[in-house]
Amino acid sequence: MDKLYIKGGTRLEGEVRASGAKNSALKMLAASLLADGPVIIENVPHLRDITTMIEILGSLGVEVVIDEKMSIEIHANTIKSYTATYDLVKTMRASFLVLGPLLAHFGQAVVSLPGGCAIGPRPVDQHLRGLEALGAKIEMSEGYVRASVAGRLQATKFRFDFSTVGGTEHIMMAATLAEGQTVLENCAREPEITDLAECLNAMGADIVGQGTDTITINGVASLQGCKRRVIADRVEAATFLIAAAATGGRVKVKEACAEHLEIVLDKLTEAGAEITVTEDGIELDMKGRRPKAVSLVTAPYPAFPTDLQAQMMVMNSIAEGAANVKETIFENRFMHVHEINRMGANIRLEENNTLAIVEGVESLQAAPVMANDLRASISLVIAGMVAQGDTTVERIYHIDRGYEQVEEKLRSLGANIERIQSR
Ligand code: EPU
Repeated sequence: MDKLYIKGGTRLEGEVRASGAKNSALKMLAASLLADGPVIIENVPHLRDITTMIEILGSLGVEVVIDEKMSIEIHANTIKSYTATYDLVKTMRASFLVLGPLLAHFGQAVVSLPGGCAIGPRPVDQHLRGLEALGAKIEMSEGYVRASVAGRLQATKFRFDFSTVGGTEHIMMAATLAEGQTVLENCAREPEITDLAECLNAMGADIVGQGTDTITINGVASLQGCKRRVIADRVEAATFLIAAAATGGRVKVKEACAEHLEIVLDKLTEAGAEITVTEDGIELDMKGRRPKAVSLVTAPYPAFPTDLQAQMMVMNSIAEGAANVKETIFENRFMHVHEINRMGANIRLEENNTLAIVEGVESLQAAPVMANDLRASISLVIAGMVAQGDTTVERIYHIDRGYEQVEEKLRSLGANIERIQSR
């Protein structure tokens, strides 16, 4: 397995481009199953999770054409199978989202239930309740969800029990081909949901209210092909900004969208960074200063994203002062804490491991470290860049799931980082 080797102590400086958003592109790939014509998705990041979704589409017999610029063309009407197998779904939970589009377009789908996950149990009860509310017949057997509907799905009024990103996207996709007007309440409002809704509208769907907690979908009989460009990855972009803040550096992330990162930019400003939003991106200048510790609570958008909690924890670990970091989305998203403490941080967990109390220390020391989740793993890379000495981060296949060309991009900002390939 590949590792990253990092020589710490360099300030990040320079310009880097944000890739297309993984969590938007994955859903657009699933949504392409709804269309009768070819769907072209541009600015797709070259990542392992994207490859997994393409493999799933391929396993259904769907023709997928990829060009050298990662523009992906999908022809759903070449489909030959309606089954997404355990082998593929277990490697990436987002693949479960092919269920609704398959069912809505072809009347049937058999999709493996995703298992547990390093960051929490992550059930799919809201997805299944929503599909049932649309008239789907759902049966479970041998670890698979078997869904069917005679004719079209039927529009409904459905309220999610709590904010769920995947649940909102899943039911919104399925409802596009339902008969009548569906109203979804208590929806998640993440920018990736809006991006997906706009992609569906480009395919001929009639969706309004995306980005608010009530989404209305007027069902249509069929959807056509379309061409869409994925928005910039707000989590990747902010990861570079936080890394710049933690190293006292100055970085511009081109194509990053400030509107999607309001609270994050506020927190970085509170930490002492100077933020400049330009037409083509976001620039952060820490002017060589040590950051000030900033407290935060993760919660659904527009609040602070859980996907940036680990990165901010590293910045806080070497900041001036103390901060409380509260995680409210996932049960087990503090795995990095034990690893950062091994590097000399002073973080203690309280309240049943949902609250981290970080006392900033002057510096971290290098150590061999690893994590079992994408965002925890990248936070260890930031810790390695901040630390004195040489750090190796193991199990970096997690990073490859969500950060495109991570070492090339960080090297372009001056980081001393190398991939050690396993033989
Ligand atoms: N939940 C349920 N039942 C459901 C659905 C969700 O109990 O039917 C729970 C989850 O277990 C979790 C909470 O509700 O505790 C929120 O989960 P949500 O459905 O909002 O998350 P998701 O759709 O599974 C997406 C992103 C995650 C990101 C979360 C929260 C994708 C592919 N994944 O997951 O991204 O952390 O929203 O913003 O879009 C990542 O990119 O590293 C990542 C984990």
